[in-house]
Formats: sequence, structure tokens, C-alpha cells
Amino acid sequence: MQTPLWNALRQVAQSEGSCFSTPGHNRGKGLAPLFQLLGQYDLTELANLDNLSAPETVIAEAQALAAQAWGSQKTWFLVNGATVGIHAMLLATLYPGDTILLPRNVHQSIVHGLILSGANPIFLAPPWDDPWQLMHGLSVEQVEAAFEENPDIKAVLVVHPTYFGAVGDTRGIAEVAHRHGVPLLVDAAHGSHLCFHPDLPDCALACGADLVVHSAHKTLPALTQSALLHGQGSRIDFGKVQLALRLLQTTSPSYLLMASLDYARAWMQEYGQAALTKVLEARTNLAVPFPCLDVSVPKLGLWLCDPTRLCVDVSALGWNGYAAEDWLLEQSQIHCELSTLHHLVFILNTAHEPLDFARLQSGLNALAQTKPLGVPPWKMPPPPLPKAMLSPRAAFEHPYCYVSLQEAVGQVSAQTVSTYPPGIPVLFTGEEISAQIVDYLETVKSQGGSLNGLDPLGKIAVCS
Ligand SMILES: Cc1ncc(COP(=O)(O)O)c(C=O)c1O
Repeated sequence: MQTPLWNALRQVAQSEGSCFSTPGHNRGKGLAPLFQLLGQYDLTELANLDNLSAPETVIAEAQALAAQAWGSQKTWFLVNGATVGIHAMLLATLYPGDTILLPRNVHQSIVHGLILSGANPIFLAPPWDDPWQLMHGLSVEQVEAAFEENPDIKAVLVVHPTYFGAVGDTRGIAEVAHRHGVPLLVDAAHGSHLCFHPDLPDCALACGADLVVHSAHKTLPALTQSALLHGQGSRIDFGKVQLALRLLQTTSPSYLLMASLDYARAWMQEYGQAALTKVLEARTNLAVPFPCLDVSVPKLGLWLCDPTRLCVDVSALGWNGYAAEDWLLEQSQIHCELSTLHHLVFILNTAHEPLDFARLQSGLNALAQTKPLGVPPWKMPPPPLPKAMLSPRAAFEHPYCYVSLQEAVGQVSAQTVSTYPPGIPVLFTGEEISAQIVDYLETVKSQGGSLNGLDPLGKIAVCS
């Protein structure tokens, strides 16, 4: 395997000598015993280890190999998750006051990136899949119509795949964006693995996206927080992206994270396809006793599903998703990725073993045979799209105060409020808080969900 950064880090870490540099644990010696081995490799920009903000040697080589692997023109290593890549791509492509078109079901990091860039969002609600109680992707027609109404749109952003594993017509949307002369930015936090197996949906880069962010740590054998930003084509100013990353990333990036990215990429190139074939076989052999999200019934905005993402509707057998998650952990020692009122989501990855799949099978069987627990879930379409009263940045800069949810009706939200996970905001910074939104948030809470963006007393920040 070709792993220039991984090799350089091992060589420096295993060399003799005394280090009079950061970090303060002196090659692991000062750390808790459990961390000492890992700490030997937790180095800083020593000789032969290059520099992430102006890479010339081993980091540059590792990034170039990553670009080859994912088929991009340029790839940057990220050490603060996909979040920092999303912020950088918004800063690099949009000026204050510019308009960006994006689906309503985006992760909160995107709205936070809009606060940084000063751009104004035009949100489109993807078609509502009522049986599944989910939104998937935007349709090409929605994007076309939005350009007709707003010829000034400067960029389009889509999610590929969603947290629930749904992939929309990213290729079609890329064509529309490019026809209008603007780039397609993709939050592919959940899609780092797609390019490593021909039976998985295409990677967003292969669909023509101009900038793509991958949370390597979500679906590859890589350390938490390690992520990638990829760019291709002439619509992107790569120098500006590098500038944005210098602005946003630490000057002390973790070599553990960066070397883990280098190794994960090389491992996936060498063994990923075979390992993913095993995952896909295991998925086919799972007899899930609940409905699973798939494309057997055509749905607007859902072209394909990532088969390594198992999204089940536990409400079909009367289970509340939050209660089902607790039950599976207590009774079967299964940690799922995410629960909602209706769903459980499991990520199947290349490090899973037959024992894990067997445990999942018996856990799901037992869940299906148990009397459902928790408040019975009911169908609850999302509240109507709130009115944007201020841009995300203007609302962020506004003085604010905390009020109860009931008192907040009619006021303007000073921050995002999300059901967490998946971290998709119900309310964005700068939007009017309607009675329906408050009802929706209170219902989610009463059914066992958690909300992100309220204070410890359950109060909400509003523009004062
Ligand atoms: C769709 C989506 N985008 C972006 C992110 C942020 O990724 P990270 O946690 O790597 O910063 C997440 C995190 O869950 C996500 O679900």
C-alpha cells in the first residue's frame, strides 16, 4: 500500500531522540497509560512531516493519492470533520449577500456555514414521503423552477446520500446548475465509501459535483473527525478553498487524524471492494422483520439507496424509534447510529464481523417479537416552511434573549434548533417561529426525542 504520510509518521515516531516541542505529553509518555502507545504517534510538524496549511511533501503526496482514489482534481485533508469542509466550501464560493439554493433537510453545519459566509439561502422542501415520514432529495424540476424564479442563484447544494441512505438525482441537478453557470456543492458526509464498490450508488464527484465533502470517519475505517474536501473543474477557485481552510482549520492539526486518512484511503483501494462485497452479502442475508427504506416503491427525490445504510421503520410494528433504540441497547447490546420517532438507522461497515451481523439479526427479531414500548408514534408531517425574516448572519449578529417556546411564537430565531440526531434543523437562524413549529418541537420532545439548540431550561434564543 502506498501511504506516504503514514510511513513518515511511523518513521519519525520510532526514531531515537528527545523532543523539545509540542505536544506537552512528550511522545505519549505523559499521557494516561491507555493512551501512551497512540501518543507516540501524536506528533506535530517536525522535520519530514510537512505542514497541512502549506503542504509540500508527505501531506501533499497523501492528498494527491486521495484525489486519485476519489477521482477529484484536488483533495484537502480535514481535521474538524465534514463540518469544516462545509464551512470552507461555502466561504470559498459565496460572498455576503449571494444566494444559494439548497434543500430544507440539510445538516446544521450548512446553516452555520451560511452565517460565516454571509450568503442567503433559498430553501426548497424536497417532496414529503408520507409513508416513510422523511424527505429525500430535491427533484431536477424543483431546481429548474427555482432558477427561473431566482436567476441570481450563485450556487446549488445537495446532500448525497442523506443520513437515511437516500440518493437523489445529483447528476441531473449538476447539469442544471452548470447550465446556469454555477457550481454544485455536495454534502456527502455519509458517502465517502461509495466510490469503492461498483454496486453502490455513484460518488457525488462522478455525478459532476464541483466541491464534495466526505466525513471519512463516518463510513471508512478512519478516526473520528477525519474528513476530506474534494474539488474539480473550472468553476472552483482552488486558491480560495485553500485560503478558507487556512482560516478555519487549526495550525496544530492532528497527525493521528491525517495519517488515519492516508491509511484508510490506501486500505480501501487495496481491500475495500472485497470487504464491501462481504458487507453487501451480509445485508442481503439479513431478514429484517421491519420495512426497510429501498427503491422498490418509486418515490420522488429518491433514486437509489445506499445498501450499507439500513434504515428501518420500526413504527410499522408499533414501536417508538427512541424506545426501540434503548431496548436494543439494553437487551441485545446493539448501538444503532440514529433513532427518530419512526426509524432506526444502522451503518454497516467494512470492519463488521459475522458476529455483529448475527447479533443485529437476532436483536431485530427479538424487537419485532416484543410488545412495543414508548409513546406510540403517529404520523406528523413537518410544519410548513417558516418565513425567513433575517439572513442567517444578520440573525446571528443580532442581540438575543432566551424565552420559553410558547413565548417565542411570532419572534425570530437567533439560532438553529434541530432534532438530534440527525441534526437537521426544524428552525434555522433568522426564521419566524410559528405556533406549528413550537407544536412540532414539543411533540418530538414529548415522544422521547432530543432537541439541540435550546438552553438547559428548554428556552429558545430569539432576536431581541
Ligand atoms: C448530512 C451531514 N452533513 C454534515 C455532517 C457533519 O459531519 P461531521 O460530524 O464530520 O462534522 C453530518 C454529521 O452528522 C451530517 O449528518
